[in-house]
Amino acid sequence: MADKVRQLLDEIATDAPVKKLKAESQPSTSNIFNFIPTLANPFESRIKDLLKNLDYLAEQKDVLELKNETRVGKEIRVSSKPLERLPTSYLVDAYGIFGRDNDKDEMIKTLLSNNGSSNQTPIISIVGLGGMGKTTFAKLVYNHNMIKEHFELKSWVYVSEYFDVVGLTKAILKSFNSSADGEDLNLLQHELQHILTRKKYFLVLDDIWNGNAERWEQVLLPFNHGSSGSKIIVTTREKEVAYHVLK
Ligand SMILES: Nc1ncnc2c1ncn2[C@@H]1O[C@H](COP(=O)(O)OP(=O)(O)O)[C@@H](O)[C@H]1O
Ligand SMILES: [Mg+2]
Repeated sequence: MADKVRQLLDEIATDAPVKKLKAESQPSTSNIFNFIPTLANPFESRIKDLLKNLDYLAEQKDVLELKNETRVGKEIRVSSKPLERLPTSYLVDAYGIFGRDNDKDEMIKTLLSNNGSSNQTPIISIVGLGGMGKTTFAKLVYNHNMIKEHFELKSWVYVSEYFDVVGLTKAILKSFNSSADGEDLNLLQHELQHILTRKKYFLVLDDIWNGNAERWEQVLLPFNHGSSGSKIIVTTREKEVAYHVLK
């Protein structure tokens, strides 16, 4: 669109002096053509087309809610409000969930396997765009009968966007029914370690967004004291975050 306008303006600019010369050299008689609009102004129909296109674009802008005030630098945001992140729980209405049977079987097989000889608990990450069904899939697995029977401890933690190590440790402790008192990370981690020691546990950390590798390493320290066969699932929209957690 902008290119078309620019081209038209260029043409008008180069055409105008020629017209002027012609008008000066052929007075009176040629002026009659000025009364026939299309012949008098060869650009008119093209200008009209461009204006029509502009009107259409302006209309679409309103339909798509591309409001002028949301322009920030070169960036245009479709909505001024970022997508809201809602906390999740493990409850799920399995009715109406489609097409996850194969993935579910495979995930359950992985969760039930006991191939870990190292003392590090395996972390399985589910990565995908928002709305792809990561949380729903994790819930299906979490609530599966075989999973319920297999693990001694099970917990679901929704990770808020701006988590700190103490806050998240407390949230995890609470999910294991601990009172999680105080702010001392040492004590909190000790308590978590105590809860998990020699237990086969299964933890879901839902919708983690940020945090560098160091921070995650710290959060996950107490988790290496469970019994072998323990598993952690994380869901995230960001591949990099999954790498940080898995490091
Ligand atoms: N397999 C599925 N079949 C039908 N609906 C689904 C399925 N997976 C997810 N949904 C629906 O899609 C929406 C987004 O799913 P959600 O699990 O919250 O995505 P994510 O966690 O990846 O952002 C929810 O309303 C959920 O009920
Ligand atoms: Mg989710």
